[in-house]
This record gives sequence, C-alpha cells and structure tokens, in this order.
Amino acid sequence: MVGSGAREHALAWALAMSAEVVVTPGNVGIAAHGIACVDTPATGLDADLFVIGPEQPLVEGLADRLRAQGKAVVGPGCDGAMLEGSKAFMKEFLAAANVPTAAFATFRDAASAVAHLAVTKPPYVIKTDGLAAGKGVLVTDDFDEACADVRDKLSGAAFGSAGTTIVIEEGLDGPECSLLVLCDGTDVVALVPAQDFKRVGDDNQGANTGGMGAYAPMASMGDQQVGEVMRTIIAPTLRELSRRSIDFRGVLYAGVMLTSEGPKLLEYNVRFGDPEAEVLAPLYGGDLYDLLVRVGTGGLHGSSARTSGSAVTVVLASHGYPASPRQGDVIHGLGDDGQLATPLEGVTIFHAGTRRDDQNRFVTAGGRVLAVTGVAESMAEARRRAYVAATLVTFEGKVMRTDIARDVA
Ligand code: AMP
Ligand code: GLY
Repeated sequence: MVGSGAREHALAWALAMSAEVVVTPGNVGIAAHGIACVDTPATGLDADLFVIGPEQPLVEGLADRLRAQGKAVVGPGCDGAMLEGSKAFMKEFLAAANVPTAAFATFRDAASAVAHLAVTKPPYVIKTDGLAAGKGVLVTDDFDEACADVRDKLSGAAFGSAGTTIVIEEGLDGPECSLLVLCDGTDVVALVPAQDFKRVGDDNQGANTGGMGAYAPMASMGDQQVGEVMRTIIAPTLRELSRRSIDFRGVLYAGVMLTSEGPKLLEYNVRFGDPEAEVLAPLYGGDLYDLLVRVGTGGLHGSSARTSGSAVTVVLASHGYPASPRQGDVIHGLGDDGQLATPLEGVTIFHAGTRRDDQNRFVTAGGRVLAVTGVAESMAEARRRAYVAATLVTFEGKVMRTDIARDVA
C-alpha cells in the first residue's frame, strides 16, 4: 500500500484481514495499529499486489513504473490518471465521450475569465486545472469574490502552477454522490454509493476541504439510479478509455450530482476517496485483498461488492483547517495502539495527520488529523457510535462537523 493518510490506513487495515500488508511510507497510527510501515519506495519493494492510495504518485507514473517491473497494480498509469490530474483534460475527454457534465470554459488570463464571469449566471464555479488536494474549487454567488479568486488562481498565488489554468463551470444543483467503480481494464464492479461532506462547516457552510466526513450506503441512491449512472456516465467513459487505448486498472471514482435533469459528472478521481475509503473499506464484507487482486490482474468478471450494514466516518481536523492548519496539539483519548483508549464496539480510528512527540504522545501533524468510523447494522447506530467516539478524542482547536449523516440516520 502506497500512501500516508487515513484512506491508506483504512484500506491497509481491511487488507490485513487476509493478507500481509506493508505500507510505504504509512504513518504512526498505522504502525501503532500493528501494520508494518517502511520508508522504502514502492519500486524497491516486492509484493504480489501494489495498491496506490493518493493521486499524486499516479499522475507521476508510479503505476507505469511498477507495471514495467511486472507487478500487479491497483491504480491507472499516467494516461488514465490525467482524468484527475487535469480538469481541462477531463472536460475534453467527457465531451468526446458524451458524458453529461456541467458546461465549462478554460482560461489562462484573468481579463477573459472575468469577462466570461460577467455574462455568466451565479453560482460561479471556479476550479484550478491541476491537483489541489480537493481545495481548488470555489463555488460562490458573489461576483466580486469570484473575480478575486480568478486573479488569485491565475497569478499562481493560490495554487502555484496547478492554478495557472482555470476551468469556469456552469453551476449545478442537487444532492452529490460518490460512486466508486473498480475497473480491471475490461470489467467493472461498482461499490455502494457514498456521500462525502466537502465543506468545513455544518450545513455545508464555509470553505471546500478534502472531506469532513462520509457515510455509506447512500440509501437515497437506489439500484435504479446507480444503474443510470453506470449507463450514462461510466459506460461511455469506458468506451472512450478503450478508444484511446488506455488500460485503466484501478478505481474510477465518479463525483456525481443528481440534478433534476439526471445525474451529471462533477469530476473523476482515479483512486479511492478520502474519507469515502474510511466507510467503504470497513463495510466491504468480502475479502478485499482477493477483490483488489482481481482489479490488478484483469479478473473482475463475475465479481460483486455487496455489503450489509452502514458506516459513518467523522473527520477531526486541526485548528485553522483548511486555510492554515496548526500542528503539534496533543491528542487525548487514544491508547498506545492509536485506537480509542476505552474501546467501543464497531469503532475504528484511522490516522491521517498524526505524529508522536518526544514523550511518545500522539499529536496533530496535518490538516485532517483522524477519521473516526462507526459501523453498525443501522445508519442511526453507526452514526451514534462514530460521534460518541469522535467526542472522546480531543485536542486543542479540534474542527469537526456535527451533521455528518444527520439527515439519513
Ligand atoms: P470537485 O473537486 O470538482 O468535486 O468540486 C468540489 C465541490 O465543489 C463539489 O463536491 C461540489 O460540491 C462543488 N462543485 C463542483 N463543481 C460544481 C458545479 N459545477 N456546480 C455546483 N457545485 C459544484
Ligand atoms: N473525498 C473527496 C476525495 O477523495 O477527493
């Protein structure tokens, strides 16, 4: 497993139920949980399967390098990873594939972008072209704020070179769903739909973040709607991948908005979502290693990914997240294994940004610090477990939403 966040913790933990797992580089919480973490780069390791967690190494071609060594890999090569690595590329790809998505235009200079905003109806949706860890999107009704954001991004002040091309999109409205689809290059298996909470504050107020919590399954997204997304979004995407000779083996994560005109694709990611993985990995009832081997080796045909029960994850973020997260706050309520000091049934804690201080205590070391997951038969009980546990873990300045899965439990 490649990566160092809560997503990799959740996947490694689920894989470790049936496989020997090594994480590179991992983090102190994963190691405390009894899963080996090493500093050796993935290309220096030997394993039957390589699962690449984050987008950055995929965009940089790690999957290609591993495949060149004859390894089985979950994660697309550079070509497929462009679907996430460049929004301008993704939009051009979607148009070619005839996938329903927001209308858009691409800009490199502020004057023409502002001129475009002046003739656009709000909400204004402005995105950095390149990778920005989920934080490169502004959605606002305020024209002046939109213009200021355009200038910030295009000047390179906000996101460096990732921001010097921007995409301005038509604003869409409706509930959002994360549908993660495993692809082995030919066949696909959809995981249960999940919902992610991207804004930092309750009731979707405040800045966009990497994700403040999630739940699955998303009951309002029934089999029929999943079928519609598969038919209108995923199937044409697979045809276009194949037309371009892109052998996509990994996770195709469709961020979908369920609009009154039907599902429309907001974005593709080319990996497990974070925090979606923290609900999907614990919910998967089967052998995750076996399933992912099939993804890496082209053996998905006939597989399914049914789950039973419900899961809710609540992210605990550090003071100042997402703009300027503070580090070094001592975390209370964890035992030496990085789990709850007083264990609770159905609760697992996945570490995102933690480290040990000189007294061996866990302290905050990043924006998102911990993802606290509750699993139970019912959504109400899963949510109760997650929040009881999330309340037991404390640190100075803790940022947490209180409404994750509130409206479905
Ligand atoms: P993205 O990183 O592209 O998924 O965007 C982050 C968030 O911004 C999404 O989860 C949506 O809540 C919001 N968003 C993105 N694109 C649009 C759009 N075209 N219309 C309305 N909201 C959007
Ligand atoms: N949860 C959003 C993402 O993983 O990009």
